[in-house]
Amino acid sequence: MRILVINGPNINMLGIREKSIYGSQTYEDLIHYIKEVCTQNEMEVEIFQSNHEGEIIDAIQAAYGKKDGIIINPAAYTHTSIAILDALKAVSLPAVEVHLSNIYERDEFRHISYVSKVCIKSFYGLGFKGYKNAILLLKSLD
Ligand code: DQA
Repeated sequence: MRILVINGPNINMLGIREKSIYGSQTYEDLIHYIKEVCTQNEMEVEIFQSNHEGEIIDAIQAAYGKKDGIIINPAAYTHTSIAILDALKAVSLPAVEVHLSNIYERDEFRHISYVSKVCIKSFYGLGFKGYKNAILLLKSLD
C-alpha cells in the first residue's frame, strides 16, 4: 500500500514551538517514527511538509492515481481551508486526519475542522501515536 503523509504549516518547527503543547520531539523524530511504523507494516510512504496552502493542494492532487491513501495534519489550515477539503474530495482517496494536540480542548477557533468532513477518521491529542493509528487504519482497508 502506498500512502502520502502531509504535514502543514509549522509542523517542521516541532521540538522548538510551544513545547508544552507539542512536546520536545522534533520534526526529524516524527519522520523517523512514521517511516519506522510504515516499514514494520510493509507500507510505502512519502512524507511531505509545507507551510503553503497551495503546495499542500498540489501534493494532494499529485497523489491521485499514485497513492492508495492520505494521512493529513493540515495544522492551522485545518480550521480555515475549504480548498484543502475540496482537494481531498477531488481525489477521493481514503484520508485520515491527525493532530498532535486535542484541538477540541483548545481555543474555540480550533474546534472547526474542515477536513474532518471528508476524512474517514480523526486522531487528535495522541501525539506521534495518532500517526501510527492512522497508518494502521489505512492498512486495515487494504
Ligand atoms: C495541530 C493543531 C492546530 O490547531 C495547530 O494550528 C497546529 C498543529 C496539531 O497537530 O495539534 O499547527 O494541527
